[in-house]
Amino acid sequence: MSLKNLIDTNKLPQHIAVIMDGNGRWAKEQGKNRIFGHSNGVKSVREVSEACAELGVKYLTLYAFSTENWNRPKLEVVALMELLVQTIRKETRTLMDNNIRLKAIGNIETLPSRCHKELLESIEITKNNSAMDLVLALSYSGRDEILQAVKAISKEVQAKQINADDLTEEDIQKHLFTNEIPDPELLIRTSGENRISNFLLWQMAYTEFYFTETYWPEFRKENLYEAILDYQKRERRFGKTSEQISTPS
Ligand code: IPE
Ligand code: IPE
Ligand code: MG
Repeated sequence: MSLKNLIDTNKLPQHIAVIMDGNGRWAKEQGKNRIFGHSNGVKSVREVSEACAELGVKYLTLYAFSTENWNRPKLEVVALMELLVQTIRKETRTLMDNNIRLKAIGNIETLPSRCHKELLESIEITKNNSAMDLVLALSYSGRDEILQAVKAISKEVQAKQINADDLTEEDIQKHLFTNEIPDPELLIRTSGENRISNFLLWQMAYTEFYFTETYWPEFRKENLYEAILDYQKRERRFGKTSEQISTPS
């Protein structure tokens, strides 16, 4: 039986974020190079996107390339960028068929121009789709995102458009890449690493974390269902007591 049947569709996270990790180690175990791992990770992206759309999850954010990943060997970076171009080109049709809108967060203008162009094209083609937003984090850094927000707000204060004392959390939120996206309720990280690696730092203030040993290229729909079921067993208290949650005043 599929774990899917056990999921309470009234308690679905509307936004799931995923740190897709372990491609390199998975490939090494197969006696293959790291690039082979990345190529095989594409199937997992397809599976998880499809499963989320089928369930009715509204936003899926995938950490595909961090700012820090630019420091990897040049050959690996080039291969990852090539894979990105190929995948976007191939999968835009699937996004259309499944009514999925593509979005990107991060400093995407730093991507090689071919990647950037392919990405913007697919975003444009899919912009009126409405079943789910598939958000790719590319050349993304959570600290840099906050820094950019601080810079933009500082300029507004300097220009006297806003008073520093009147600033709110919403003002910061407004300047993030995710300004139109609700915070994720659930974060999944594969491959047994228990850290957030500069991902969505502001947005994950109250996110539930789910860590699994499974390497990303082996992650399938059933693994996603397992993560959602684990999430549904948790009590999200937001600082309150358990009693307050079960009998809201
Ligand atoms: C995740 O897999 C993919 C990217 C970071 C682009 P890794 O390449 O980090 O795989 P490991 O962690 O070395 O196994
Ligand atoms: C995080 O994975 C970035 C992505 C999944 C794109 P890494 O494998 O780069 O993370 P660290 O450096 O091991 O923390
Ligand atoms: Mg890794």
